Amino acid sequence: MNTLLIKLDKHNVNHEKLNIAAKVIKDGGLVAFPTETVYGLGANALNAAAVQNIFIAKGRPNDNPLIVHIADRDMLEGIVEVVPENAIKLMDKFWPGPLTIIMKKAKAIPKIITAGLDTVAVRMPAHPVALALIKDSGFPIAAPSANTSGKPSPTNAKHVIEDLWGKADVIIDAGAAKVGLESTVIDVTVEPPIILRHGGIILPQLEEVIGEIEIDPAIFTDNTDICPKSPGMKYLHYAPKAEMTIVKGEFDKVAEKINQLIIEYSKNGQSVGVLATDQTREKYVGATVISLGDRGTPNSIAANLFYSLREFDKKMIQIILAEAVEEIEIGVAIMDRMYKAAGNKVIHVK
Ligand code: TXA
Ligand code: MG
Repeated sequence: MNTLLIKLDKHNVNHEKLNIAAKVIKDGGLVAFPTETVYGLGANALNAAAVQNIFIAKGRPNDNPLIVHIADRDMLEGIVEVVPENAIKLMDKFWPGPLTIIMKKAKAIPKIITAGLDTVAVRMPAHPVALALIKDSGFPIAAPSANTSGKPSPTNAKHVIEDLWGKADVIIDAGAAKVGLESTVIDVTVEPPIILRHGGIILPQLEEVIGEIEIDPAIFTDNTDICPKSPGMKYLHYAPKAEMTIVKGEFDKVAEKINQLIIEYSKNGQSVGVLATDQTREKYVGATVISLGDRGTPNSIAANLFYSLREFDKKMIQIILAEAVEEIEIGVAIMDRMYKAAGNKVIHVK
């Protein structure tokens, strides 16, 4: 298929150009569009055949449900059966924004979106282009991240082009995604509500609004006996082509261990990359070093993670050695994605 690339300025959206994309959605086509978290690959959520094409374009397993994106709360009608009290509190505080809320699904939502579940994931993105696309098309938009299944989520249009050129009707380019990690997913159909995926909104922020929250025990483990409630979490995710290992522990010891590993892997003729931070990037010898940013501003580290994993792929790196970051606040979501990228390979140094 021919793919059309449309460039838009998110601060001054050209509606004539946007309307081309909105018409594609109306007509049952696929549009890759920016959100504040990552780029999404969207189709009219009420058109089952259009949604099926998302799964084909991404190579996504059919048992992994999609998020439905809306532009205003009136759209919830026809998507969900009921809006629980906790959902209202969360929407008041965090929408539009990087929070996906799981509620009981309404009949109009095709089974293909929810993978047969009786719940549906809904999010109102905080991105002017995403909101305008939904509004101008007049439909809720079902969209997973706009990457080939298994690869790191796309944080700019270049990544989308790499993965989906010829597979989507339109790719909108509106610059880099601000958050860089996907939305937090919370299920409010249960008491207490349960976090199914860590992301842009962190646990203490959520607890402040609705009190006690559980975390799906399957999130942080490689224990395959536990079946994750969020089907997407069971798949290999965010994986660079290189084999990745996380090194965790005290600062200097981590650098020492990584330098020792660089020597060992290099002896085997393997090209090594180090995922470092501004505070540590100078410590490494004999490897391609990418800094995720300043440890003092974890949000910038989150924003750079997927980008950096794709950079290593471009540089044909075979082994990635990654410094762990502190597992607090957004660091919890960062490490969640790192564990997945590394297939849970972690070395603890003391
Ligand atoms: O930030 C984001 O959430 C991005 C942007 C594009 O909005 N989207 C995104 O979609 O990350 P995707 O498909 O890559 O991840 C959706 C996650 C998956 O883990 C999926 O299993 C889960 O949400 N999910 C969707 N519907 C669900 C449901 N009814 N119950 C449980 N989990 C669900
Ligand atoms: Mg995804």
